[in-house]
Amino acid sequence: MTKKYIQENKERFINELIELLKIPSISADPGHKKYILRTADSIKDSLVDAGCKKAEICETPGNPIVYAEHIIDKDLPTVLVYGHYDVQPADPIELWDSPPFDPVIKKTDIHPEGAIFARGACDDKGQLYMHVKAFEYMIKENKLPCNVKFMIEGEEEVGSVSLEWFVKRNQEKLSNDVILISDTGMISNQQPSITTGLRGLSYVEVEVTGPNRDLHSGLYGGAVANPINIMAKMIASLHDENNHITIPGFYDKVIEATLEERAQMAKAPFSIKDYKKALDIEDVYGEKGYTTNERNSIRPTLDVNGIWGGYTGEGAKTVIPSKAFAKISMRLVPDQDPDEITKMFTDHFISIAPKAVKVKVTPHHGGHAYVTPIDNIAYKAANKAYTETFGVEAIPQRSGGSIPIVSLFEKELKSKSILMGFGLDSDAIHSPNEHYGIFNYLKGIETIPLFYQYYTKMFKA
Ligand code: BES
Ligand code: MN
Ligand code: MN
Repeated sequence: MTKKYIQENKERFINELIELLKIPSISADPGHKKYILRTADSIKDSLVDAGCKKAEICETPGNPIVYAEHIIDKDLPTVLVYGHYDVQPADPIELWDSPPFDPVIKKTDIHPEGAIFARGACDDKGQLYMHVKAFEYMIKENKLPCNVKFMIEGEEEVGSVSLEWFVKRNQEKLSNDVILISDTGMISNQQPSITTGLRGLSYVEVEVTGPNRDLHSGLYGGAVANPINIMAKMIASLHDENNHITIPGFYDKVIEATLEERAQMAKAPFSIKDYKKALDIEDVYGEKGYTTNERNSIRPTLDVNGIWGGYTGEGAKTVIPSKAFAKISMRLVPDQDPDEITKMFTDHFISIAPKAVKVKVTPHHGGHAYVTPIDNIAYKAANKAYTETFGVEAIPQRSGGSIPIVSLFEKELKSKSILMGFGLDSDAIHSPNEHYGIFNYLKGIETIPLFYQYYTKMFKA
């Protein structure tokens, strides 16, 4: 039984994850490259230790990809496990209660059995490591029913550029029947859910330039455009009074959810009161005509992620800055095209600028949204696995987050992904004090082998 194996090896499973979490594999910072390489090596070693027949480090123009495979019979189905070993930067570091790369276990209201606090604990080291340990169990106990491939990348948090390069060049090697991913969340520890959708992304940086140098705000104030004032006005105009996005054409390709789909969504357990309380807000805010859960999953959005310019140091400095900057992300839904949206944004943003300023828009990474139906064997097998380990059926749920590479997998490898995430929204991914419940970690290790078992059975049938 999986339970017995987990019980006997629990301490080791936790300690191994803690060691992995100590390596600061931040992909956004080139200065952390040696930790990226060390993490990739460590994951490769752990796959070999788990009993994988072949494991290798694949060099790319960027961060290496850990690839491994364990083929037992060509006639059996092949599951390709995807995960990412890179993590978000830890800042603001001062808001962490314990150092981000010095994992500690603490109990919380939601995690009475304890949670591991560290950057990457949930996103995605803790979740990818469940797959390594589930695989170990299947090998050691002779329970592996099919072929397995692993593809663990190191650039997810910065746009998966090298993975795209790798996938396009290795279609044969990566051939599979289904892609299995744990890099999303579920509703709660009592109510599992299977992620059936991800939003796409268009990410841009804007630069608004006024005068050619910073100016004395007394001598020039009132007579020349202040790029910060102007940029703030331009950004504010991107939403109307109903919080619809004003970029012409932005909604043209949006597939509206049917009333039936929306009614189905509304059945998922959700308390707006708890939601507001958890975030310490008096009220929610968003697009008119949609519920909170619709706003954060099936609707596209536009958000400023960062804004800067002028004087931000101690005290006061009277200045009209030469430049203002902002980073803006748009979350997309089917069938919005990220390149088209980026172009629409760019054209519109330039068109609304007064002549007194110059505007430059630089696109960053992007990706398509992903939606998968539930009438396939991967979903059914996953649901059966959750039902067995949680005692209740999983609920299908579209997530607001993005894993842009998932739609690329569909395009290049012609396979669907099943998103079995075990994180919780409250796990603070990308935030200070990120953590991952011990319950979630062990439940994942218990649930994954059942997926393999049911999937293989349904595949053969
Ligand atoms: N694992 C997350 C995405 C996620 C989290 C999806 C929770 C659903 C539920 C992933 O690592 C991530 O952070 N993605 C980025 C996009 C990426 C291109 C930087 C995101 O969603 O902002
Ligand atoms: Mn992730
Ligand atoms: Mn992430």
